[in-house]
Amino acid sequence: MRILITGVCGFVGSALAESFFERVEGVHVVGMDNMIRPGAETNRIRMERMGVELIHGDLRSASDMAGLPACDWVIDAAANPSVLAGLSGAGGSRRLFEHNLGAFGNVLEYCREQSAGLLLLSSSRVYSIPALASIPLRELNHAFAIDPVTPLPPGLTVSGIGEGFSTAAPISLYGATKLASEIMALEYGATFDFPVWITRCGVLAGAGQFGTAAQGIFAFWVNAHLRRRNIRYIGFNGSGCQARDAFHPRDLAALLLAQMRTSRREGQRIYTAGGGPANTMSLAQLTAWCDQRFGPHAPAIDPEPRMFDIPWMVMDSAAANRDFNWQIEMPVTAILDGIAQHATLHPDWLEVSHA
Ligand SMILES: NC(=O)c1ccc[n+]([C@@H]2O[C@H](COP(=O)([O-])OP(=O)(O)OC[C@H]3O[C@@H](n4cnc5c(N)ncnc54)[C@H](O)[C@@H]3O)[C@@H](O)[C@H]2O)c1
Repeated sequence: MRILITGVCGFVGSALAESFFERVEGVHVVGMDNMIRPGAETNRIRMERMGVELIHGDLRSASDMAGLPACDWVIDAAANPSVLAGLSGAGGSRRLFEHNLGAFGNVLEYCREQSAGLLLLSSSRVYSIPALASIPLRELNHAFAIDPVTPLPPGLTVSGIGEGFSTAAPISLYGATKLASEIMALEYGATFDFPVWITRCGVLAGAGQFGTAAQGIFAFWVNAHLRRRNIRYIGFNGSGCQARDAFHPRDLAALLLAQMRTSRREGQRIYTAGGGPANTMSLAQLTAWCDQRFGPHAPAIDPEPRMFDIPWMVMDSAAANRDFNWQIEMPVTAILDGIAQHATLHPDWLEVSHA
């Protein structure tokens, strides 16, 4: 099996490569990265030593793409993954468009030319922000949780958000690049007859993730807490009750492998995957976990709401479980433990990540 991983020096791409070498005998991994993410360079040597055929190239460049060897599958893990991407002015929105959507056109062309299957790492951010903001919630143990007595909107159960939840705009510029990529991927796959699988991932987290306040929140929070840096509860009355589920890319790798191995060509192509209710934590609960591990460090309060922020996001992976017998194995405490160990061993991680 030959797999091309775009963004192979990023957090998810590098973890997937590692997982495939462990799980798939004789796998050949080709990796491409332009190292634009601060910290990506730190994964270069590790990837090469592991056996990745690493190509320093940019997906935006058709000539860089033309130099790629043939592969059976492409996993697209190259993108600017921040929901706040494109808001900075000074060409930020154009850059987001070029990296996340324009470049994806080149990936699709590669799949067409090589007859390679495509696994698109989409995002929970394709879901409608007003619909997410209207989910009936209550406060439970310093975290927002679904209010089960209220009727729930389509696509939402007490287990979380599923594929049927609204994707109506606004969904953020980042979310829109992913939703547009999904549509283009399905259309290319149907027109040129190559398999396409789309996974709308919730928050992915783990040791070695590049964390900033805008993206990679679990890694950022643990690193910043450990070093007594400024951490803030933004919006939601400064409660820190905003909650997310988290899962590790190793668990995602198992789902992607199941998708690559199935011979099914019909039926559902889009899946929602994430940590689920058991792997959900609020910022206040994450702070309590860090307090216990590193000693107390209180976040500042900034009650002013931030654009695109939502109080609660938990993924319902029931369809992935039903169709691929998939479920996560790594509990959130193990994910946090890994991040904490890594943070202790890498005192400059926030600088590496340009946090
Ligand atoms: N991290 C999450 O919580 C999360 C959640 C849902 C979906 N995703 C998706 O998973 C994928 C990987 O996310 P991540 O957290 O590993 O991000 P990351 O920033 O750690 O990795 C992305 C990698 O892609 C590279 N890259 C970006 N633009 C490129 C281009 N034009 N050409 C070549 N390389 C390029 C970067 O240098 C970086 O190494 C993204 O598509 C993201 O949207 C991530």
